[in-house]
Amino acid sequence: MRILGIETSCDETSASIIEAKKGNKTVTLVSNIISSSVKLHAKTGGIIPENAAREQIKYILPVIKQALSPIFSSRLTSHFPSSPSIDAIAVTYGPGLIGSLLVGVETAKTLSYVFKKPIVPVNHLLGHIYANWINPVIPNSFRDLPHDEKEMLNQEVQHDKIEFPAVALLVSGGHTDLILMKAHGSIKWLGGTRDDAAGEALDKIGRLLGLSYPAGPIIEQLAKNGNLKAYKFPRPMIGTNDFDFSFSGLKTAVLQEVSGIKYQVLRKKIPDIAASVQQAICDVLIRKTIKAAKKYKPKSILLGGGVVANEELKRQLILNTKYELPDTEIFFPKKFLCTDNAAMIATAAFFNYKPAPVNKITANPELYFD
Ligand code: KG4
Ligand code: ZN
Repeated sequence: MRILGIETSCDETSASIIEAKKGNKTVTLVSNIISSSVKLHAKTGGIIPENAAREQIKYILPVIKQALSPIFSSRLTSHFPSSPSIDAIAVTYGPGLIGSLLVGVETAKTLSYVFKKPIVPVNHLLGHIYANWINPVIPNSFRDLPHDEKEMLNQEVQHDKIEFPAVALLVSGGHTDLILMKAHGSIKWLGGTRDDAAGEALDKIGRLLGLSYPAGPIIEQLAKNGNLKAYKFPRPMIGTNDFDFSFSGLKTAVLQEVSGIKYQVLRKKIPDIAASVQQAICDVLIRKTIKAAKKYKPKSILLGGGVVANEELKRQLILNTKYELPDTEIFFPKKFLCTDNAAMIATAAFFNYKPAPVNKITANPELYFD
């Protein structure tokens, strides 16, 4: 079957087509179009929700049209209704910014109603985890290979080895959660952040350092030239007997370090601060993920969310689990599928295929794990 996915929960407008047969263990990407208003938000140092939604209104139809172009050569309206090529529509219905979600949800409902296609509402958080089932994915079998790590991280493998139970670490701009998956559709939330998400902390710290939005990828680049031991930033809740996180103290610690410093002086310290902050976040995420894996003994650890684009996080997690959890495989999506995209939404719909009546689907900004 072919599923058209639509994702507009935050600042991206994305449409994608995935393809898979019943019983398949992975899906194939046919198209994945992403239009981002990130440049607009870089100017304001963060997302202004109304600006994001206004951009999405402009781009939603062109983006869908482009995503459909590999299977329809011409106009959306003349081909969509009669063609059997699209079997269902999947759309993010939460969590996210209400104005942004509404753009995707109402567009998907209209297409579903007019063209009589089933519609599957998808939880954005689950979508991030489902990016792991999209070909190409990168397996962790390279733990056995003594090759250069970079080469291994770039390896592309058609992969269908994800086995349950799985522990999933979702780490994005809005969420940091640990989840236990016993099967597709069987989800148990283990814990999450009590304040800022890891990506949110990176973005807020970036703002303190005068970096552009989103700061996560910039901090990763700056950290390459910094000393990760230069600052002893706190590792909040690293040793607590639960699966919760807290990152707002880290932001406060950086604020104390930089307040009152002239920019000329601060500029020279930024790489060291970036490396030390990144390490503090990696340490906490890795420790808590290993703790969950030791308790639930999963066959797989799945990573998902924008912060998983960070190579250092993946490298260190793989290195640590190699000794502590030798029987657990680690999976993470290809870098371009870590941040928001519609392919992950369509994939989640394929593996949890539950169409809903159009009039029952509403955007839910506060949606969490069911
Ligand atoms: O999953 P995502 O695209 O959107 C949400 O659902 O929140 O995640 C965006 C977050 C931002 O906070 C951004 O700074 C962070 O992911 N991020 C990174 C990297 N790329 C994006 N954080 C660390 N290293 C990166 N390379
Ligand atoms: Zn996201």
